[in-house]
Formats: sequence, structure tokens, C-alpha cells
Amino acid sequence: MHKPAPTDYPVHKLIRERWSPRAFANKSIPQNVLRSLFEAARWAPSSYNEQPWAYLVATRDEQGSFERMLSVLVEFNANWAKSAAVMAIAVAELAFAKNNAPNRNAQYDLGAATALLSVEATAQGLAVHQMAGFDPEKARQLFGIPAGWEAIAAIALGYPGDPASLPPPLKDREMAPRTRKPIAEFVMAGQWGHTAPFATK
Ligand SMILES: Cc1cc2nc3c(=O)[nH]c(=O)nc-3n(C[C@H](O)[C@H](O)[C@H](O)COP(=O)(O)O)c2cc1C
Repeated sequence: MHKPAPTDYPVHKLIRERWSPRAFANKSIPQNVLRSLFEAARWAPSSYNEQPWAYLVATRDEQGSFERMLSVLVEFNANWAKSAAVMAIAVAELAFAKNNAPNRNAQYDLGAATALLSVEATAQGLAVHQMAGFDPEKARQLFGIPAGWEAIAAIALGYPGDPASLPPPLKDREMAPRTRKPIAEFVMAGQWGHTAPFATK
């Protein structure tokens, strides 16, 4: 399914077309495409070029690993993510490798990397659905995530599927219009709470 953002101002097609479906097609992602997704993540900017990110990845045919990925999700998410072609867990390194000082931008940088991965995925005809609804400590145990690293988000990836494959409440959410705050609400100038003049036009 296609669900382009009804934007107030023009943006690039890839940004309009990225969205987070819960229905996925029963089609695997070729390995060269997977490489391109993580190559896109690789070229994200990061504080001091630290690149404080890592991804644990399991394709659906790697059954044991894929099942373990699903087992860390809250039930609501596991119920739809089981049809994804690939599951991943995005992990941030919380301290700088060079001096062990806390990196207060680590999660920000991981988010930037995953945003670029999502845009590349859109360009490849894929969909990405990120999730906070999972148990990071269970992920640490099951996948051996070391101290100093923290699982921040689970990610379902796949070719978009038919919303009719979803149970009724999820199908309704899949079809619901996409909404956002207007830019005038979050773009400020001069003083906190004062909308930037260009954002009111
Ligand atoms: C960090 C993060 C956590 C999220 N957690 C969940 C989740 O646990 N379950 C879920 O169904 N969707 C989750 N989402 C998806 C959001 O609900 C979705 O991105 C938002 O509604 C905007 O929709 P769009 O991505 O289709 O534009 C999450 C998204 C992000 C970025």
C-alpha cells in the first residue's frame, strides 16, 4: 500500500513516501539490498564521527534468530512484525570509544543513521517500521549486547503488504490518515514559544 504524506509544503518524494506499515509482503530482501540499507546508515553524520551505532539483524529464513527477535517485542508488536522479511535491533554505544566519556548524542546519532536507512529503504521499494515496544534487557541477554551499549529500537523491514492481511483493528490503523503538527508549532525564533516568521506563511 502507498500512503504518501499530505505535506503542507513540497518535500522530496522519498520523504513523502516513507511510512511505517504493519502489513508486509511475503517476499525476502536480497542481500545486496540489505547491504545498501546499512551502507546508507553508515554515511549518517555523528558527533566526532564516532558512529556509535550497531544493528543486530535476522532474516525470516534464519528461523532461530528471527524468533528470538520477535520474542523481545511486546505482544502487540510481535503480532504484526512476524510477517516482516527482516527484523533488526538498533543499538547505541553510550560512551566515546576514545576516552570513555559519556556521549550524550549517541542515541541522536543512532536515530540519524536509522533515518537514512529508512530513506534508502523507501528508495528500494521497502518499508521500515521502528518500535520502542520491546524489552532492551531481554535483547541484551539473548544477543549478548555488551555493557556500554544499549538497545534503543527494534525495526521491522520488508516489502509493503496488503492491509487486508491484518486483523480488523490494525487494518483500520493502517488505512487511517497520516497526521503531523504544523511546522508553526515547533519552529521557533528569538524566544522559546515564538513561531519563526517564515513558518507561518
Ligand atoms: C522510536 C520509534 C518507536 C516506535 N514504536 C512503535 C511501536 O512500538 N509500535 C508501533 O506499532 N509503532 C511504533 N512506531 C511507529 C510510529 O507510531 C510511527 O512512526 C508514527 O505513528 C508516524 O507514522 P509514519 O512513520 O507512518 O509516518 C515507532 C516509531 C519510532 C520512530
